[in-house]
Amino acid sequence: MKSSGIIAAAAILMLPSLGVAADQSAAPKAAPAVVSPAAKGKAVANDRNKGNCLACHMMDDGEFPGNFGPPLSQMKERYPDRAVLRKQIWDATVKNPTSIMPPFGKHGIMSESELDQLLDYLYTL
Ligand code: HEC
Repeated sequence: MKSSGIIAAAAILMLPSLGVAADQSAAPKAAPAVVSPAAKGKAVANDRNKGNCLACHMMDDGEFPGNFGPPLSQMKERYPDRAVLRKQIWDATVKNPTSIMPPFGKHGIMSESELDQLLDYLYTL
């Protein structure tokens, strides 16, 4: 009886590690990260070293927005022509020479592809 008691104790001691192993095998396999252009654009918009749009605009679920600029919403309705919206973000001073909005494209604050991702995101708002 003594030896079976030892075996039982050993089995009990092993249980937690078996449990961990079972959890790991049950965990879903890591899916390859698929990040949509709009999701990348949201990151560009919120990045303080890129768009930092929230410093001046109310936008989406962004926290603590500033109000120097108008809220960014209904972008599809307001900007049916993507080129017009692109120009606004490329260089806001074309439309308003005294604009405080940074000329994101002209000054190379964001790259062409980042600007396109940003537009994909804005069109979800
Ligand atoms: C420093 C403040 C500031 C920042 C940062 C800023 N904007 Fe603006 N934005 C403004 C102001 C002010 C206006 C109002 C028009 C003007 O003065 O040029 C404006 C106007 C706009 C407009 C046109 C008005 C409208 O409602 O459609 C769009 C679109 C826009 N901003 C998008 C953006 C996006 C996208 C970002 C981030 C990439 C951004 N802005 C960052 C200040 C800012």
